[in-house]
Amino acid sequence: MADLINVSYDTQIPNNVGLSSDKRVLKALEKWHPGYIDWWNDLIPEQFQLSDIYLRTAVSVDPKGWAKFDYVKMPDYRWGILLAPQVEDRKIPFGEHKGEPAWQEVPGEYRALLRRLIVIQADTEPASVEQQKFLGKTAPSMYDMRNLFQVNVEEGRHLWAMVYLLQKYFGADGREEAHELLRRSSGSEDAPRMLGAFNEATPDWLSFFMFTYFTDRDGKMQLEALAQSGFDPLSRTCRFMLTEEAHHMFVGETGVGRTIQRTCEAMNEAGITNPYDIDKIRALGVIDLPTIQKKMNLHYTLSLDLFGQEISTNAANAFNNGIKGRYMENRLEDDHQLQNDTYPVHSVVGDKIVSEDVPALTAINMRLRDDYVRDAAGGVGRWNKIIKKNGIDFALIIPHEGFHRQIGVFSKVSISPEGNIISQAEWDANVGNWLPNKADGDFIASLMVPCFEKGEYAGWIAPPKVGIDNKPGDFEYVKLYEA
Ligand SMILES: [Fe+2]
Ligand SMILES: [Fe+2]
Repeated sequence: MADLINVSYDTQIPNNVGLSSDKRVLKALEKWHPGYIDWWNDLIPEQFQLSDIYLRTAVSVDPKGWAKFDYVKMPDYRWGILLAPQVEDRKIPFGEHKGEPAWQEVPGEYRALLRRLIVIQADTEPASVEQQKFLGKTAPSMYDMRNLFQVNVEEGRHLWAMVYLLQKYFGADGREEAHELLRRSSGSEDAPRMLGAFNEATPDWLSFFMFTYFTDRDGKMQLEALAQSGFDPLSRTCRFMLTEEAHHMFVGETGVGRTIQRTCEAMNEAGITNPYDIDKIRALGVIDLPTIQKKMNLHYTLSLDLFGQEISTNAANAFNNGIKGRYMENRLEDDHQLQNDTYPVHSVVGDKIVSEDVPALTAINMRLRDDYVRDAAGGVGRWNKIIKKNGIDFALIIPHEGFHRQIGVFSKVSISPEGNIISQAEWDANVGNWLPNKADGDFIASLMVPCFEKGEYAGWIAPPKVGIDNKPGDFEYVKLYEA
């Protein structure tokens, strides 16, 4: 089948995978579609469903011009199935099949493993929309509301992308999984989402920004690793998703940055130099920097847990089998098979944290997490520049990898943000200074008042430097439906 750069709109589901001539898959997706729309409509408050939102829609997979901006009512959004163009003669880039032609069909022996990886990725996409469902009501501006809904519709599209793979390549099992993806729900008692961080609440906008910065970045790393896959349709799907993912992390980074900027401005206007003068700073209606640090500690550590166990035979198999590669696999200079290589992994021995060299194949998760930590540090450095530029003596610090962990070698001990193993009593005495406590949450919640005036912003956050799609500051990003 010829590869299409532009998206065809001749079926109900926009796509560049030739759906109109693939009757079986088209029918399966059309059957799944109403359940998806119900899920969406139950989730997003009606007022916003009826509003016109200035959104981008993917209309092509050409990197030079893939998106088009226009006003859309969200239920009318064209959730499409888009795969990056096929690379001619693509070879499997790693593992025991390295150098063999990439698979266009699922290899029988890896079917269960592939299905599981696709389902886990798929499960995160609707989960984040569920976590963010109440935020529209307290948007600090129309600009931010628009960004929230942009992220939401694209996570919805990512679900479509994964469901397409399940329906096309996994037969009845795939259909069943696609159904389950709409049944599980974030935070549910009996059918929760598969990964911990996706069952946590996103109670306020600072959480949303931290989530899109830290947790969407886990998504980026996972997609990067799957984009290397020897299973070509998965690789192409993930490659296109990455183009959308970049905006989600932009929303997070600039959102946190604008929050910091406003706090520093307010402190300077009031002549407050001590960042720990928390009551006085909060009285200004902005979020003090130590609380921003706590929110960061929480979202960062929840995101580290998403990388799984440091040492994992599943991860080793996925790599060895050519299913899931490493970050930037093509830029790494080794044999891409790792049969004789080692990789350093931390573990807790007695009351010490030690580093051990283990077979590199088993440490694939650890390596991806290390890549993530480096990637995540960039934005934190830029946030600190904002603080410095405002002349305030404070720096955000990424906590130790062992702090507040539920998964992996550090989950059995208590570790301070500085990386010291501490007693339970010490943990209990200090946790309120390290992670957001009830009072912090209540204070942030008190600031979450909607600001729906065109070009205006809630008092706790600075306006963005540039508009979306280069629009001016007073652009009407959302034409709110008024009953
Ligand atoms: Fe996504
Ligand atoms: Fe995302």
